[in-house]
Amino acid sequence: MEPEQQRLLDRGLAAEGPIVVLTGAGISAESGIPTFRGEDGYWTVGSKNFHPTEMATQAAFRRMPEEVWRWYLYRRSVCRRADPNPAHHAIVQLERALGDRFLLLTQNVDGLHLRAGNTLERTYQIHGNIDYLRCGDAPESLQPVPLEIGEQWGKDSPFTEEARALLSCCEGGRLSRPHVLWFDEYYDEALFHFESSIHAAAQASLLIVIGTSGSTNLPMQVGTIVARRGAPMIVINRDPSPFSRMVEGSGSGWFAEGKAGDHLPPIVEYLAERA
Ligand code: APR
Repeated sequence: MEPEQQRLLDRGLAAEGPIVVLTGAGISAESGIPTFRGEDGYWTVGSKNFHPTEMATQAAFRRMPEEVWRWYLYRRSVCRRADPNPAHHAIVQLERALGDRFLLLTQNVDGLHLRAGNTLERTYQIHGNIDYLRCGDAPESLQPVPLEIGEQWGKDSPFTEEARALLSCCEGGRLSRPHVLWFDEYYDEALFHFESSIHAAAQASLLIVIGTSGSTNLPMQVGTIVARRGAPMIVINRDPSPFSRMVEGSGSGWFAEGKAGDHLPPIVEYLAERA
């Protein structure tokens, strides 16, 4: 490991405050789940009939709830067929080594961090989880998507009567909605840990950013707060990103350009040995 990287990790370990990990779709790419803006990305290829980002809106759900559900059930099937990869497992190892000093903020709705073994208490799913549904914005209505709905949904699978019956679990038999944050919606604390994530950025002794293009608001706020504080920041990404630009030349950051599966395990090893 480069001495500069070791110096930053030592600084992070020595300081007060949580060690925060922020992940995006890039960490699940090695599990075979498409990213959003990559060549095969969901926002690049999208659904058969509609522009991709159009599908991920409350407006679309109001207009065509079944079409939106069909798309999320297809994406959920892709996620359920995937397995956590070495980068996911490294983050579990880091949580076990750091305990309450560890916090994971993930943009991923694929559920792979929890399936790998990270705890719900220390994992903020800031864009939701595709394995869950809810009734409107009521956090207390959050519940797992019924397993009977199956994991074999293809892009063209029809929305069945059985699916409608299973998903119409809200008061008065109303249709539920996927527990994901849509483009025409706002972060909040109850469903998406907004304030807690901002607070964590203000306290973080070290931030490790993995596999994200920095295209959404809260993650960029988290990165900006840490960078402005001059706290150590490690960025692992296949391509340069707004986060890598934050650390370049900053003297308090490091950009490891490449795959999460290659760059993350040695960093976790280093931290876990010294935690
Ligand atoms: N290892 C590390 N980084 C990778 C890898 C890999 N194996 N593969 C791809 N990447 C990087 C890409 O270079 C890219 O910068 O991961 C990033 C993925 O970016 P996006 O596809 O834009 O995904 P993400 O940043 O998670 O999107 C953020 O946008 O659309 C919303 O809600 C959606 O949560 C999502 C959010």
